[in-house]
Amino acid sequence: MVTKEEIEKLINSTDMFALVSPYVKLIKSGSGYKGICPFHSEKTPSFSVSQEKHLAHCFSCGKGGNPIQFLMDIKHLNFIEAVKELAKINHMDLQIDDVKDPKSQEKEKYYALNDLANKLFTRNLLSTNEGQKAIKYLNERGLDIEAIKEFSLGLAPRDGKMLYNLLKESNYLELDMVSCGLVKNNDNNYYDFFTNRIMFPIKDIRGNIIGFSGRTYKDALNQAKYMNTYESLVFKKNLVLYNLDLAIDFITLNDRIILHEGYMDVIASYRSGLKEVVCSMGTSLTSGQINLIGKYTKNVIICYDSDNAGIKASFRAGELFLKSGFNVNLVKLDKTKDSDEYVKKYGLEAYKSYFLSHIISFIDYVYNEVTTSINNNDISSIENAKNNLFKYLKLYKSNLIWEKYLTDFAKFLNISLDSIKADFYKNDKIETNIVVNYPKEDKKEIKENNFKYAAIRIFDYAKSSKIKALEIDNYLEKDNRFIGLGPILGQLWQAIISFYQDNFYFDEEKFVLYLQEKNLYNDYYHMISLNEFYAKLNLPYSDSDLNECLESINKEARNIKLNNIQQSINMKIDEKLAKELTIKKFKLRQKCEKNN
Ligand code: CTP
Ligand code: MN
Repeated sequence: MVTKEEIEKLINSTDMFALVSPYVKLIKSGSGYKGICPFHSEKTPSFSVSQEKHLAHCFSCGKGGNPIQFLMDIKHLNFIEAVKELAKINHMDLQIDDVKDPKSQEKEKYYALNDLANKLFTRNLLSTNEGQKAIKYLNERGLDIEAIKEFSLGLAPRDGKMLYNLLKESNYLELDMVSCGLVKNNDNNYYDFFTNRIMFPIKDIRGNIIGFSGRTYKDALNQAKYMNTYESLVFKKNLVLYNLDLAIDFITLNDRIILHEGYMDVIASYRSGLKEVVCSMGTSLTSGQINLIGKYTKNVIICYDSDNAGIKASFRAGELFLKSGFNVNLVKLDKTKDSDEYVKKYGLEAYKSYFLSHIISFIDYVYNEVTTSINNNDISSIENAKNNLFKYLKLYKSNLIWEKYLTDFAKFLNISLDSIKADFYKNDKIETNIVVNYPKEDKKEIKENNFKYAAIRIFDYAKSSKIKALEIDNYLEKDNRFIGLGPILGQLWQAIISFYQDNFYFDEEKFVLYLQEKNLYNDYYHMISLNEFYAKLNLPYSDSDLNECLESINKEARNIKLNNIQQSINMKIDEKLAKELTIKKFKLRQKCEKNN
């Protein structure tokens, strides 16, 4: 253990000038030094360093403090790591190893495993015959060797045992290789999880490799474009922000973050000089990622793909960020689908200047999208546009903003402002408090009401064994399966059951291939992302829970059926049929009540 006295001694023996100088150009000022703050953007120096008091502190943004705090802030370390680092700098011998908790030791092991894997991948890409083709592919995509090295891209060997053998030689246990996602176990044999894919290492904010994403680079049929490490102790997909380690200093310095959809877009932006750039893995942005970003900046520029999926995702991301108190801007690419393609087509400089001159506020983006979607011959498109505009406008809680866009909208439609306003304020309570944090789902509510979560969860049970899957299938009343699960999950469920007809064990990779053949992979991917989101809520997980899941699916199915019958009755149909339906409804309701 480190004592308080030792910490004090550590602080007091620090040469503050030497510690801060690499980050800030210091000039003498009074009894200490001054410089431009490394934690925020400023023109006049507010960052002051005192040798005597052992402090480095910004009077403008408040960051910094004693040398330990300074290291924590500038290198994104936790307390223990900063103490260690400072002890190293000051050549002090502190017994701090025993401070480590078992969990963090486990994490270190995973980082080391991933690091070794990455060494193999980069070597395989840069200095083997096998790597030539992949390098050619990357060159064609506009990445030169320098960029390949900067982002530590690699190539997983075609030989499906090379990594396993290397890890084995390095005395790692199979258990650890498998749980950090590098190796998989098939019939008691071990194989590399990734083979013959271009590897993007995914790092945490401090640069530890937590997992990988592998991209196909040949016309490989029946293969997912990207394959990712599964969830592990260190790899939590819904907390990943790719490139955060390289971007973080630029995020704090420029006090903003650029958010893309994909890795290649991040690399394109970064190379163009827009270095405060990250992406989530795809478009399903999570509250965890938003909270993580919020620690460093409250200004975000969303730049997703310009296709329909990207537009939809931009609306969703904008909403989530606004609800978390962010200032939200957006860049819409007009000439290409994404940033990567823009750079490929027009070059790094043209991209950067396009980007910087096309930053618009989220509400302007919404306004533009909404008004261009209007077809004057279709009254419902006007209603739709109106509702959308209102929805996003209400997120702003500002009379001024409301008035401005309502006025514009009235002019655009050539109707009076009063009637637009009447609609805007009609029968809804506008919340006056700004919601600063992303609303947390109430666990109990999810358990009781969210049959969707239940529906997703049964897949986890089904994957655990064939017997369980068939048991569940049996339990779900035959037509309820589709009504209760809904058409998309229903199809996926059918897929998993028919997968088990040919396989005794569930194998994720095989299943993915199977889904791709059936064109169901995207739905599955979406479901997995949703599941991860729910899983984060740490709900209890037990067998009795499975029963609750099944019950809530059946309950949902019965409610839907009831509704359908009611609707048929409501529509004008002949008397005889109405009578039959009413009886049916009565029976169903009895059944519902009995079960609830
Ligand atoms: N993604 C993923 N797993 C998949 C598909 C996509 O994790 N099976 C994530 C990746 O982070 C990817 C991003 O979603 O970068 C966007 O996917 P997509 O638009 O399909 O790919 P691009 O980024 O355009 O990739 P590329 O340019 O290499 O085709
Ligand atoms: Mn792309």
